[in-house]
Amino acid sequence: MGIDYTQKIPNNVDLASDRRLQRALEHWQPRYLDWWNELGPEGFQANDIYLRTAINVGADGWAHFDHVKMPDYRWGIFLAKQNTERTIGFGDEFGKPVWQDVPGEHRAALRRLIVTQGDTEPASVEQQRLLGLTCPSLYDLRNLFQVNVEEGRHLWAMVYLLHAHFGRAGREEAEELLDRHSGDPDNPRILSTFNEPIDDWLSFFMFTYFTDRDGKYQLKCLAESSFDPMARTCQFMLTEEAHHMFVGETGIGRIVERTVDVMNELKTEEPESLRSAGVMDLGLLQRYINFWFSSCLDLFGADQSSNAAGYFATGIKGRPDETRFEDHICLETREVIEVPQDDTKITTIEVPTRNAMNEITRNLFVADCQRGMDRWNKTILNGGFDILLTLPSTRFRREIGSWANVSTDPTGDIISAEEFDKRQTEFMPTQEDRAYVKSLMKPVTEPGKMAGWIAAPRRGIHGQPLDFEYVKLH
Ligand SMILES: [Fe+2]
Ligand SMILES: [Fe+2]
Repeated sequence: MGIDYTQKIPNNVDLASDRRLQRALEHWQPRYLDWWNELGPEGFQANDIYLRTAINVGADGWAHFDHVKMPDYRWGIFLAKQNTERTIGFGDEFGKPVWQDVPGEHRAALRRLIVTQGDTEPASVEQQRLLGLTCPSLYDLRNLFQVNVEEGRHLWAMVYLLHAHFGRAGREEAEELLDRHSGDPDNPRILSTFNEPIDDWLSFFMFTYFTDRDGKYQLKCLAESSFDPMARTCQFMLTEEAHHMFVGETGIGRIVERTVDVMNELKTEEPESLRSAGVMDLGLLQRYINFWFSSCLDLFGADQSSNAAGYFATGIKGRPDETRFEDHICLETREVIEVPQDDTKITTIEVPTRNAMNEITRNLFVADCQRGMDRWNKTILNGGFDILLTLPSTRFRREIGSWANVSTDPTGDIISAEEFDKRQTEFMPTQEDRAYVKSLMKPVTEPGKMAGWIAAPRRGIHGQPLDFEYVKLH
């Protein structure tokens, strides 16, 4: 499954054997590059960046590392290896052969899923386009650009499916993926989270920790799909996605480490003293966690969903790592979910498992989010402080599902809307918090140097030293 780099569009799908498809994608390619140059990272398009490029699609050892200018990055079409024995892993068609093309009756649903996923990929590049100007180090700047070029490649992954399997409608959708823009009042991105600019690095690390992890769980569900080309596309995207998780987890981890060091130096937990020392106090980090975690929960959809039941029944979208479950039919079982009673009490109800698929995936995401929290808390504890960062309750600040518009505090206790408003500044990033974070965003571009609010990483990229020139600025 090596990748052919002699082609205009690098690929491992033997694109050259389908001239029509190849021509259509080669027609889309310059439009993509125009988009990248216009709405991709601001200010560094002519610099050499130490980037990895996929050379094959195996689980390990797939990458080649070298300095490359971002517009010259070889975006292409890379699918995980085909398993010709693969059968449908869940739902009503369990055990039958997977589909190599789209069954007519599932066309609309699959197209919708692919377009929604595809739309988030360029959206995040647009959201992050100004971040490079305030990078905390060349190491971080390189990581940002690595994430950005790979999100660009994820757009290619979805556009390939649209072009190859959805005919004219698919080609039109591919055009529209470049026409919608994050935050554009007339033609915004599909999901609202992807229309907010990400203009400070704390938000970037929160985004790669929480929002990219949502993406990881969506991809895991699609990687189970009976539509085999989509499953294989998503399997390879997941191996790229692992680096995005790493950037988020280590980014927040290094901020915590730096803060704890200064807390020890100054022997204080006082936010004011820590802020005059130029680090982010733990209360501020907690409020950012509250904000990002709660907004990502809604991306999984409603806790009771007939759409999700339909996707599962028809074999379009499974659960993350479907093989971890014993029952792949889920017709006889029920799930217990928490719902509000008269907006004053928490109670539970049972719903058919198929209708609770979003909730099942959301709960796996929550457990995964907790793992990084545990690691950051260990740093705080090892530093000698008895303070815990916590994930807010899944009932907190929801806008979709049973808990939509029920006011709770971060522990999930129901409170009145008035109390929520009054205590808002305790729960969520305040204007002062945001202004303070913004004030720290000054570029540090000397090789090996770090901004004062973040600790150095443990090691460099691909065995390179920390003071390596990850981005050549001159
Ligand atoms: Fe992505
Ligand atoms: Fe990502």
